[in-house]
Parts: sequence; C-alpha cells; structure tokens
Amino acid sequence: MQINDRQTRTIWPAEDNSGDVEILDQTRLPHRIEIVRLRTLDDAVRAIADMQVRGAPLIGVTAAYGVCLALREDASDQALAAASARLLAARPTAVNLAWALKEMAATLQDQPVDARSAVAYARASEMADEDVAACEAIGDHGLEVIRAYAERKGGGRVNVLTHCNAGWLATVDWGTALAPIYKAHRAGLDIHVWVDETRPRNQGASLTAFELGQESVPHTLIADNTGGHLMQHGMVDLVIVGSDRTTRTGDVCNKIGTYLKALAAKDNDVGFYAALPASTLDWTLTDGVAQIPIEQRGAHEVTHITGRTASGEMATIEIAAPGSPAANYAFDVTPARLVTGIITERGVAEASEVGLLGLYPEMAGVDAPKPRFGFMKGRITVPDDFDELGREEIEAMFNGDS
Ligand code: MRU
Repeated sequence: MQINDRQTRTIWPAEDNSGDVEILDQTRLPHRIEIVRLRTLDDAVRAIADMQVRGAPLIGVTAAYGVCLALREDASDQALAAASARLLAARPTAVNLAWALKEMAATLQDQPVDARSAVAYARASEMADEDVAACEAIGDHGLEVIRAYAERKGGGRVNVLTHCNAGWLATVDWGTALAPIYKAHRAGLDIHVWVDETRPRNQGASLTAFELGQESVPHTLIADNTGGHLMQHGMVDLVIVGSDRTTRTGDVCNKIGTYLKALAAKDNDVGFYAALPASTLDWTLTDGVAQIPIEQRGAHEVTHITGRTASGEMATIEIAAPGSPAANYAFDVTPARLVTGIITERGVAEASEVGLLGLYPEMAGVDAPKPRFGFMKGRITVPDDFDELGREEIEAMFNGDS
C-alpha cells in the first residue's frame, strides 16, 4: 500500500544489508512518518510492547525478525529459547506471536548453530511474504462478500463499518478487514467506510482513517458509540473487523469494543464478518470468552491522549480527573453465534468448528487440549508445571497486576 504515493510495507530488512530491521513507527502516525531501526532483541520486544508495531499479523512477523536479531548475537539453543520467551511475553493476546515463534523454532531446531542466523532471516522474510499473499487472498474472497451486498443494492453504495485498525498497517501489507475494501475500491465498487475511532489508543482515527485516505477510499471517522445508531437507520450494510485470535469454534477475539458492535449488528440484521489469516486461528481453544488471555494495558492510555497541537508539536495531555483510577482491557471476544462469516485466505467459512475445518481439513487431527490456564475468582491461574515462562510472571501479566 502507499504512503504519499510511495509503495511501502510495515517492516523490512534494512537496505544496507546490516541485518538490522526497519519499521514504520505507528505511535507517530498519522502526524509523523518515522522509520525506526531495530538492531537488537530488546528493540524488537520494545517495538511490540510499546506498539510501534501492532496488529496481530505484524506482531508475528516482527517477532520472527526479533529472533533473527537475537541469533546474530548468539545462536545457541539457550539463546533461542530465551529470545522466544521474551518475545512471547511482549503481548499476550494475538496468537500470531506464538505461531511465529513456533514456526521459527521448528525451522531452526535442526540447523547447525553457525547456520541458524542466515536460515532465520530467510524464514522471517518468507513469513513476511506469506503474510502479504494471505492478506491479498483475504481481500479477493472478501471482495465477493462485498460484491454480493452491492448487487443486492442494485449497484448502490455499500457502507462498511470497521473497528480498530485491521488494515495494511496491522499486517505486512494489504491488511485483513481492509483488504476486501481495497479490492472493492479498485474493482470500481461504490464503497464507503465508517471508521470507529477506537479508544483508548485511537487506532481507527490515527491509522485506519490515515491509510484509507492514502488509498483514496471514501470514509468517515465516527466516535466509538455511533455504530448502533447508524445501524438502526440503515446506514451500515456490513461490519468487517480483524482478529487477534479466533478459536476453532469461531469465537473472535479483537480490539475492545468489537463485541458491542457485533451485538448491535445482530439486533439490526447487519452482517458481521471477521477477516483473518490461518496464523490467527488457535486450534487449541474451544471457548474464546473463557480461554483467550485478554491483555490489560496501563491506565495512562485511558486517562491521557496523544495528538498534534495547533503549533504542530506532538503532545500528550491528561483528559481524566487527576488520580482517577482507570482500567484498560485491550481486547474482547465476540462469540461465534454473532459472527456471520469468517473471511480467510482460503475462502469464507461459517463461524463454527465445522465451517473452519471445512477450509482447514489438515487441522482436524489437532486436539483441543484442556485449557492450560485456569480461572479462580475471576483471575487467571497457571499450572505449577508451566515452565515456558515463570508461572508468577504469566499470572501477573494476564491479571494486570505486573
Ligand atoms: O492493540 P492492537 O492495535 O495491536 O490491536 C489490533 C487489532 O485489534 C486488530 O483488529 C487485529 O490485530 C487484527 S489486525 C489485522
């Protein structure tokens, strides 16, 4: 996709062949186009945790490059395990992160230590290309969904509502929820997008509206609570969102607020679609509400807001009463019963185990193990034998008391 008419991706190996990796710093968009160089594992962990890169597929590819940055310093088994543990802890909800680390480990484990760094870079860049291809295919399948709505309206304008940013900035290129929209726009369909601002970090306002504008797709930014009203007045034909993790039964975890849009869509007979690649499917989970770890971020993201002042400076200001306690749940889960369809790189599936297995029959043999994490009085508990990370560390991370 384009920024100022220049084709660009969200992450790429530095052109000087240093082995460094470059990213677009998404905390600065839309007001500053800044490229940041990742040189070390620490840089990659920080970029994910601080959301310089964000969006499930992009988090996964960044983690893969993070492994490369670690291995060029030390390619031993211990260093690989330590790097994977640090990256895995950077953000808990998007399963693409664990998926990418497992892919890297599987690729590297049988490689001699002195070959690992080169193999890691090759696999990471292949994963980036695979993500682009998957997202473009999601776009092609989603285009047919939008085309059906356009035909039903006799070629009239199709109004799509989207939440958060599941555009090309959330992936390596094309995006998930926005890929069908870009395809529809390029195919000449009359399409307009309602863009939820997406508090507290405003990915809709600062990223989705920005990238739709760069591609000249008609769109209107709305406050988060507007969607229900628009649906009641026939101003939304369908909702398309991305996902950070979708269970084998079709429960869709996505940015906080998505569930409320799905409820409003159901009440108003508006189609609700989630668009996602295979790397977002978690075949080990059967109950999204009970089993998906929901990231809790710092309260300051709710009490403060960042933007550009009239004099052109970037500034962060406090919007809450000083000292107000605030909670910041970053994601929620939309149960499969509220999802009209799941748009994947292999086609559109019903949001159910049967529907998803119809597109991914090779996953039929994957057992859905009993959840490794338990729940006690509304808190997540981790079994004593869980040694990938420290038990206490994971409990603290998921329960937000770290
Ligand atoms: O917290 P973020 O900005 O990483 O959340 C992103 C989302 O919720 C996206 O909708 C999701 O990752 C799908 S991205 C293609």
